[in-house]
Amino acid sequence: MEQHSLFSLPVKSETPSESGESEAETIVTNGRISSLSTSSAPDKCSDADAERAAFLRRELERHNYLYHTLDAPEITDEAYDRLFRELVEIEGRRPELQTPDSPTRRVGGELLPYLETRAHSQRMYGLDNVFSSEEWQAFVQRARRQLPEASDEIMNEWWADPKLDGLACELTYENGLFTQALTRGDGETGEVVTAAMRTVRNLPLRLHGKGPFPARLEVRGEVLMFRRQFEELNRRQESLGLKTFANPRNAAAGSLRQLDTSVTAARGLRFLAYSAGQIVMTENGEGGLSPWKTHAELLEAFREYGFETPTGGRLCHGLEEAQAYYQKLEAGRDALPFEIDGVVYKLNDREAETALGFTARAPRFAVAWKFAARRAKTVLERIVVQVGRTGVLTPVAELKPVSVGGVVVSRATLHNEDEIRQKDIREGDTVLIQRAGDVIPDVVGPVLEERRPDSVPYQFPKFCPVCGAEASRLEGEAAWRCLNMSCPAVLLRSLVHFVSKSGLDVQGVGARWIEELVRAGRIKNAADLFTLTAQELLGFERMGEVLAEKFVDSLQEAKQTASLERFIAALGIRLVGEQTARTLAASFEDMDALEKASTEDLTALPDIGPEVASSIRAFFDTESNRNLLERFRSLGLWPRRRAQAAEVKTALSGKRVLFTGTLSRSRDEFQRMAEHAGAAVAASFSKKLDYLVVGENPGSKLAKAEDAGITILNEKEFLALLEQKETVS
Ligand code: IVH
Repeated sequence: MEQHSLFSLPVKSETPSESGESEAETIVTNGRISSLSTSSAPDKCSDADAERAAFLRRELERHNYLYHTLDAPEITDEAYDRLFRELVEIEGRRPELQTPDSPTRRVGGELLPYLETRAHSQRMYGLDNVFSSEEWQAFVQRARRQLPEASDEIMNEWWADPKLDGLACELTYENGLFTQALTRGDGETGEVVTAAMRTVRNLPLRLHGKGPFPARLEVRGEVLMFRRQFEELNRRQESLGLKTFANPRNAAAGSLRQLDTSVTAARGLRFLAYSAGQIVMTENGEGGLSPWKTHAELLEAFREYGFETPTGGRLCHGLEEAQAYYQKLEAGRDALPFEIDGVVYKLNDREAETALGFTARAPRFAVAWKFAARRAKTVLERIVVQVGRTGVLTPVAELKPVSVGGVVVSRATLHNEDEIRQKDIREGDTVLIQRAGDVIPDVVGPVLEERRPDSVPYQFPKFCPVCGAEASRLEGEAAWRCLNMSCPAVLLRSLVHFVSKSGLDVQGVGARWIEELVRAGRIKNAADLFTLTAQELLGFERMGEVLAEKFVDSLQEAKQTASLERFIAALGIRLVGEQTARTLAASFEDMDALEKASTEDLTALPDIGPEVASSIRAFFDTESNRNLLERFRSLGLWPRRRAQAAEVKTALSGKRVLFTGTLSRSRDEFQRMAEHAGAAVAASFSKKLDYLVVGENPGSKLAKAEDAGITILNEKEFLALLEQKETVS
């Protein structure tokens, strides 16, 4: 252990906030760091943009840390956004000033073709499990016997922290800079998730403090989705008609392994650091050993470097303390913001740790004491199918009530058809139920020995259990859904959407009244709304004359003024939001024309992929939807594409346009002008664009357009095109 003196212990490091402004200069100008940046420009240190960018980077990362790691924000979200936009603006104008640790790189947007795999420099082992105090003691005694030369004191001191139920990941820092993230994978090789991990807000892109930093430091820890984010994500997924996740661990894994890192960025993942991989202190490689003598010191160093570590870790001396800690965590597990499934005990002394080493499977110096699984056996009496807001059919197990970890459970989700088939779950089976944290109980699987001889495999219904319409399972989806817009279960929500701001935006017609009218059986679909009279509305409680008149007037006004794009958006076709509705409305004359469009026609449009196209097709292929459209037509709600004056075409008709940068008037105004001239305005960059119209500080889209050979227009050129009219013969 004498080697420790060869290395300077990490000098009392500071959060970036305490380091003061002068350090900003050090950060950008000390050469070492600028030589690490992708495009180094050492002579830029005298320039005002470079100084400002460095200041903004440091400030933004400081606020990130205060907000995401310490949970103690100092500024408002708006103030943060202002600083962020300023940095984006500078980096857009001066791309050479972008650094790999710039907070602007946290927003994702990198698109990976596939996930590369790479070898870990040191194998990432799993942990052996123990399930009782006897097993825990046996493990500790075994370690004691394997290292007879160590003192009792050393062998009796264990660091304990919660066993996090997420996904193990290893981060590499080279001279203080975050350079790589690998998942655990099979322990030998992991997937490269560097770009995705960069979006994780509590991950330091550069180690905090003044250094010197290890030449190479591998920080291991768990990527987690906290419960709140998990619940939010599932709510969001459900409302978009996308698949929901069974538990936070699956959600974390799915979110991290995204090829589109902006998806990861939106998922609110966290990283908690709990151990180290390889540590190389100096460039010449002499120091394979670290200056941290104990696990407690290592974690303290991690915190000073800006990492979040598992809450409530502590030292335990002997079984009594270890057990007390275990019991405390088990009792408090549901109050934690994330899921844990046990306690990990690690020998505190790092030299003894190295001396103990590993078995073929797991370390000899660390063990997981798992919590008793919250499982129980019961009978699955029936499988019922529920219809969700977006028409998704969700199978639910009705169970003979059973107590699982102190909570009586009588229902459990079965997720979808594939899940039932894979586990071969049948009605009448005895099944194993599992409760994980606050999450809805899960059916682990059938107890085959107890299966009744007359049981038959479960057949997922091919019809909506509420309205009887044929259900459909779209390509690439796990869920069956009812596409009948008049299905009572789907009706209420789709009606509320129809009149909402995202739909026709009917003033004064809110969810409460819709619900009442549906309950009274007066409206069965959106077309019925337009047949309401003030007279009959008066029959409803709390509805006076003024309100009734206003109600009917608002609907009539919406009917007369609805644009094609609002109308399409109001229909609530799955995956068709306002932007897609705008694209469709610019490309088709009316709903008749849209109905005739093939999947190929649709995917040729900007922003429309195969999934959206197939959802649009499925909408028109459903008879009840076609009937509903006919009713709208007969009621006079049949908007047509605006813009194109009958025989006059502009040079922009049918062209796909995207705006970027700051324009002399609002972006909205320009979009409207373009649409008025018959152009389709795209939501994001694509190679299918005809024109990119650039204002000031255009950002990265300009370079992409240049690469793709897309015609670039400035504002003046765009306005000139607007004026160019061609007469169609
Ligand atoms: S320390 C040599 N501490 O559990 C292993 N691991 O089932 C040292 N895990 O993949 C690991 N929480 O990644 C440690 N507080 C914690 C942990 C933890 C979860 C993971 C670990 C491993 C898995 C084993």
